[in-house]
Amino acid sequence: MTALDLATADMLGPDAVADPYPLLTALREHDPVHWSARYRSWFVTRFDDVSDALRDERFSSDRIAPYRRARLDGPGTDPALRAAFGVLEDWMVFKDPPDHTRLRKLLSRAFTPRAVNRMRPRIGEIADGLLGAVTGNGSGRADLIADYAYPLTASVIAEMLGVPRADQARFKDWSDQITGLVFGGMGDADRHTLGAHGMAELTDYLSGLVAAHEREPADDLLSALISARDADDALSHDEVIATGVLLLFAGHETTTNLIGNGLLALLHHPDQRALLDADPSLVDGAVEEMMRFDGPAKTVARLMGADVDLRGHTLRRGERVFLCPSSANRDPAVFDDPDRFDITRRQGRQLGFGVGMHYCLGAPLARLESAIAVPRALRALPGLRPDDGELRWHPVLLSRGMERFPVRFDA
Ligand code: HEM
Repeated sequence: MTALDLATADMLGPDAVADPYPLLTALREHDPVHWSARYRSWFVTRFDDVSDALRDERFSSDRIAPYRRARLDGPGTDPALRAAFGVLEDWMVFKDPPDHTRLRKLLSRAFTPRAVNRMRPRIGEIADGLLGAVTGNGSGRADLIADYAYPLTASVIAEMLGVPRADQARFKDWSDQITGLVFGGMGDADRHTLGAHGMAELTDYLSGLVAAHEREPADDLLSALISARDADDALSHDEVIATGVLLLFAGHETTTNLIGNGLLALLHHPDQRALLDADPSLVDGAVEEMMRFDGPAKTVARLMGADVDLRGHTLRRGERVFLCPSSANRDPAVFDDPDRFDITRRQGRQLGFGVGMHYCLGAPLARLESAIAVPRALRALPGLRPDDGELRWHPVLLSRGMERFPVRFDA
């Protein structure tokens, strides 16, 4: 790509949405700290820079409160929208220390490795149930997002929190609407209004559930959140609800994409699939390679809290920065032959779950779900192959995932 091409490069152009890696490679090689006039933001693409910035507090995560103050505090703002951003403002992922430190400590007391490991048999059961429904309809066709990855990951986190099974179906709509609010989407002018609507219904619902858990504690994550203590500190009622929304949201949107993108990579690389079929013990390495090769976190956003000089540019206080794990994970300075999908690779530490103080709290759950879900789908659906036609990817900057993943198999 020429310098001119790069200057006008669009991360959300149709080619880059379908396959962002050629553009990311060009940026990493020629303009690793890139100012995009189109998005009025910096894009940082080299492994070392992304890794350093994620650990650097001058790259602030506190980006909801400034938006609210600038755009939503005036008269005439839809109160539902202000309330929805109020919930986001209580998410630890959008906070800096000391608020972040406090919330993370309390959530870590509730969201423990034990709580995750306990789900292992249920994840297998839920996966088998969904695959049974897919094979049972006799069509030899499925959408691996809508019929498998999405309901699997949504059910797992909903069950962990203690959402009764009968209520889980409603989460899909709410969650889709909130996705518009958090991830942003192009060409959807109503996304904020819809997102606010979904958030209001979800927080109403959770408020009732939290009240019920306060009266009668259960052995689930919501009760653990209510009773989590750090010295005299505890989460407020609103913080329990906001954290519940965060877990429901973070808990399945991204993992759906890991399972989808991972299965796609295996179908596109039959030699790697054959390796995994022959030796199931390779599955944990395979999941790490799925995260590296085509992971769900395309970019992670930050707001500059101070002026910072980086590779000859000054990133000014208040400017927005997209740190790109999807590019860092293909950096040849860290990974040999980085565009090769190799499930036996044991080199480098991929950045798809972030790094530093905001390192993904759900990484063990995401890894466990994927390690169970991916091989089961390959076993249950003989002759699995992508269906004809173009795959549609979500046209968003922050995440990398398919809207639909149509497949065929031998019925
Ligand atoms: C493959 C699936 C997943 C990916 C790719 C992913 C990715 C990430 C990334 C990149 C961050 C750091 C964000 C930042 O630095 O601003 C993060 C944070 C977080 N993730 Fe995940 N995540 C996944 C699954 C999950 C799951 C299953 C849960 C919980 C059920 C979860 C809960 C969280 C939470 C609570 C944070 C905030 C941590 C903090 O701010 O200290 N994630 N995730």
